[in-house]
Amino acid sequence: MKENEWITKEIPNKINYYLIGEGKPLLLLHGFAEDATIWTNQIKFLSSRHKLILPDLPGSGISKEYLPALSTTIEDFAMLINEIIMAEKIEQFSFLGHSMGGYVALAYAELFPEMLNGFGLIHSTAYADSAEKKEIRTRSIEFIEKHGSLPFLETMIPGLYSDPFIREHKDVIQNHISMANSFNLHVFAAYYEMMKNRPDRRLVLESFTKPILFIIGTEDKAVFLKDSLEQSHLPVDPHIEILDGVGHMGMIEVPDKVNKALENFMMLM
Ligand code: MLT
Repeated sequence: MKENEWITKEIPNKINYYLIGEGKPLLLLHGFAEDATIWTNQIKFLSSRHKLILPDLPGSGISKEYLPALSTTIEDFAMLINEIIMAEKIEQFSFLGHSMGGYVALAYAELFPEMLNGFGLIHSTAYADSAEKKEIRTRSIEFIEKHGSLPFLETMIPGLYSDPFIREHKDVIQNHISMANSFNLHVFAAYYEMMKNRPDRRLVLESFTKPILFIIGTEDKAVFLKDSLEQSHLPVDPHIEILDGVGHMGMIEVPDKVNKALENFMMLM
């Protein structure tokens, strides 16, 4: 497989994913209202040295037709990731998840710690949703059902980026909104439901003995800085990258800094 060549693979009727590059296996998992293209800046940089595995979760991107049910769980997604790893005959790998993708990485680390060389939370958290956050998700779903996805996304997506980035990169925000607006709106309800139901996984951070990466944006409004800093001191072997002035989307807001942090982390593997 050539560097930067995107090969599409499938677990039939369940999930589609991309394979790109050769080298140490690294799985990158997107978050809510995203797909694997969210990693475009990292793919160019990492695929010359790594075998990248990039799933699109059921309901997202090239897995759009596999609609998750309201009863689907974050653990179901972790099991699906393991099906990919088994299908690719990968013995050990590193797993980095952005936000909701990080919730899946934590569930995976709980279920299959021996499969991982290390994992990372990119703007993500091991804390469960607070009662207030659950309530906001419930109200968001009601809003989407009444008004459709677009007005919701037009408010939600800019909130993921830092204010200066929004002012200077209106095209990026618009592209992100357009991509997310192609989702079936039931997918948003299913994703919110599974995030509401996920447990606190700080114990996974404490018990995992290999490296854990934390990428933290000081202006992140989706994952609070205080929680990010607190959880990053729980593991035995934490690697912490704090991105000053950055929101929830470091991979896009400051790709060079994120690429360097990912490369340094992968050197440990
Ligand atoms: C994400 O980016 O995946 C979401 O912000 C996660 C969340 O809402 O908790």
